[in-house]
Amino acid sequence: MTNVAVVGSQWGDEGKGKIVDVLSKEADVVVRFQGGHNAGHTLVIDGKTYKLHLLPSGIVRPNKLSIIGNGVVVNPEALLGEIENVKSQGVDITPDNLLLAENTNLILPAHSVLDNAMEEARGAKKLGTTGRGIGLCYEDKVARRGIRICDLEHSDYLKERLENMLSHHNVLLKGFGADTLNVTDVYDELMKSAEKLLPYVGVAWKRLDEAHKKGEKILFEGAQGHMLDVDHGTYPFVTSSNTVAAQAAAGSGVGAKEIGYVLGITKAYTTRVGTGPFPTELDNAEGELLGQRGHEFGTTTGRKRRCGWFDAALVRQSVKTGGIDGIALTKLDVLDGFDELKICVGYDINGERYDHYPASAVHQANAKPVYETMKGWKEDTQKARSFADLPAEAVKYVKYIEELIEAPVAILSVSPDRDDTIVMQDLFSA
Ligand code: GDP
Ligand code: IMO
Ligand code: MG
Repeated sequence: MTNVAVVGSQWGDEGKGKIVDVLSKEADVVVRFQGGHNAGHTLVIDGKTYKLHLLPSGIVRPNKLSIIGNGVVVNPEALLGEIENVKSQGVDITPDNLLLAENTNLILPAHSVLDNAMEEARGAKKLGTTGRGIGLCYEDKVARRGIRICDLEHSDYLKERLENMLSHHNVLLKGFGADTLNVTDVYDELMKSAEKLLPYVGVAWKRLDEAHKKGEKILFEGAQGHMLDVDHGTYPFVTSSNTVAAQAAAGSGVGAKEIGYVLGITKAYTTRVGTGPFPTELDNAEGELLGQRGHEFGTTTGRKRRCGWFDAALVRQSVKTGGIDGIALTKLDVLDGFDELKICVGYDINGERYDHYPASAVHQANAKPVYETMKGWKEDTQKARSFADLPAEAVKYVKYIEELIEAPVAILSVSPDRDDTIVMQDLFSA
């Protein structure tokens, strides 16, 4: 028996929420370990849609423990709002099935104000952040200025910490011409959430150690994707955390060996929200068609996602840098009906051929995709229940992807619905 970590292998929105939901049937504990409410994970169960941002996707199943790990950055109001919202959809959320790690850093109001002010100041060079203050919160965490959830229990200490943090924020806010903040207002605002949040707070690493001792199955739920990883992604057009499975250990308080099978969620084509390089982007009718068929609008910000062909060179790089054991290939159904499909197998950068995506932002911006073309299929894949049900051309497409990315397809997803999923392997015993 092993644990499973679910991570995105592209630029996010690969369908992690759906696959975590499918796998959580087998799991006892589901843990988020990085990111914040920049994430938007969609679950479709019997025609009912749940959009989750901070809550682990296991929350909708009864008798599963959901943990928000220390690597996540939590906006108290956003979390409380989401709890209420998901409860109103009939999901039971209590301290019995939701645990918030005591050492989680909090997103405060100045973080999103500054995130947006900095984006505006970047003008045409903006990063296209979600404006949720994610990067600013991680900055404060690393600078040792952060406020952690455990600080909410000690009012004098909390005020001292806020004083220290605001002395920094107010300089920045002034510089951007925004209103400065005072400790009393921020403290009073935080206290309104504290009372409601504290019942969920506990020692996550200890609960995970218990899970380990009891032989419970742990499912780690990543947010964003490898190409948005602060080290391995398309820097500076990235998020501010490590999105690779290795972060699951540090971001929840378990040993590296506990991570187990690493499943990279991979869309059968490519999308990206926000700015930054995207070699296979289709700025044409084919791109529009992918967007329409795939309903490619952001779950968090509603922004239209940029769409393009499958980039095998990029996903292979994610497989290697992230230690991905196998992938869940999602949204194969979106490709039904195309005459031809292109797959990027490398790049041409200033006349030189690359089989990887170099780190330099200058090279990344100049990379032209090198394509191979495959025949498409006309049949509807949504009703396929096994690999054998797929049209021959779809099988060829999937098999070629496996070969190019050097990793097997362990799960195939052919619609947003929980039930339209072909699971090839029991990952918890892989
Ligand atoms: P996440 O951020 O990785 O969890 O992905 P999102 O939920 O942001 O975006 C994925 C979108 O694709 C959601 O609207 C899902 O309901 C949908 N989706 C997931 N898997 C499939 C699939 O196999 N086929 C289709 N057509 N849609 C899918
Ligand atoms: P899920 O978990 C897609 C992108 C933003 C922006 C960059 C930095 O749903 O896959 P940030 O607000 O994190 O500082 O923005 O990262 N981004 C995502 N794109 N899916 C996500 O999450 C994302 N979370 C952040 O669009 O380009
Ligand atoms: Mg998403």
